[in-house]
Amino acid sequence: MLGAITSIHFFMFTLPSLPFDPKAFGTFISEETFSYHHDKHHAGYVSKLNAAIEGTSFIDQDLETIIQNSRANNSGVFNNAAQHFNHSFFWNSLSEKPQNITEELNKLLVRDFGSVEYFKEQFTQVASSLFGSGWTWLVQNNKGTLAIIQTANAETPVGTDQTPLLTIDVWEHAYYIDHRNARPAYLEAFWPYVNWQFVATQLV
Ligand SMILES: [Fe+2]
Repeated sequence: MLGAITSIHFFMFTLPSLPFDPKAFGTFISEETFSYHHDKHHAGYVSKLNAAIEGTSFIDQDLETIIQNSRANNSGVFNNAAQHFNHSFFWNSLSEKPQNITEELNKLLVRDFGSVEYFKEQFTQVASSLFGSGWTWLVQNNKGTLAIIQTANAETPVGTDQTPLLTIDVWEHAYYIDHRNARPAYLEAFWPYVNWQFVATQLV
């Protein structure tokens, strides 16, 4: 299902393979959704990014630098670069194997949200209330505090003073095949598949 990757290998950025078995996510995300979401949507952002930076000064910059340098005045580059980052980060936020929250991360979640359960409730509430398309993130700010934020459309914490730790894609293309318009059902099914090991490694 991931054969489309080989057709874009000559460009600067390449579509990363999914870091898990796309058949292993139960009713949360089906293989069909991963096929469209990764092989069509994410691949599209990568190929449009490569086309947009060809022959420009962005061509020898890394992804995070491109995001920072295009945010203010080049939406064609920014949207595709940010969506490449956001989708890659989302795949890494997921695991088909249940994982425990690390001790350090657990301490920070309890410190900043009161409890892990309350953090999950708040995160789900924020993701449910995001109007239109976008992303919900757990981030760490430059003082070390954890926070939940929304970003609209392609916006991303990259290049801000907030470090992304965990994200979920709440564009309709992320859940419509499996949950139709029921975003809360998609969000409720998310928690058993969070890659807490990855989240912990993103802490500053
Ligand atoms: Fe998406």
